[in-house]
Amino acid sequence: MSYYKRHLFMCVNEREDKACCQDHGAAELRTYAKTKTKELGISGQGGVRVNQAGCLDRCDEGPVAVVYPDGVWYRYSNEADLDEIITKHLMQGEIVERLKI
Ligand code: FES
Repeated sequence: MSYYKRHLFMCVNEREDKACCQDHGAAELRTYAKTKTKELGISGQGGVRVNQAGCLDRCDEGPVAVVYPDGVWYRYSNEADLDEIITKHLMQGEIVERLKI
């Protein structure tokens, strides 16, 4: 069994020359997701981990995040979208089709 059941990598990259995930508040939303998984008691060994990532090279689609080991990509817009990704995908393994890219 792997150390974490699922990893959520969230791009928080910021740049001036082109579109980036931080244009949409990605860093703040990543903090929200990390706090939420802690509040739900699902973070840590055997559970889930929310990590910040550098550019994932899907900048125009941002803000983007990817769940591993499933390899499912999402574009989210707000805390409600992250709540859905956390409670459905991270906790239950159910892909959130409406946010999938
Ligand atoms: S800035 Fe987020 S994917 Fe490139």
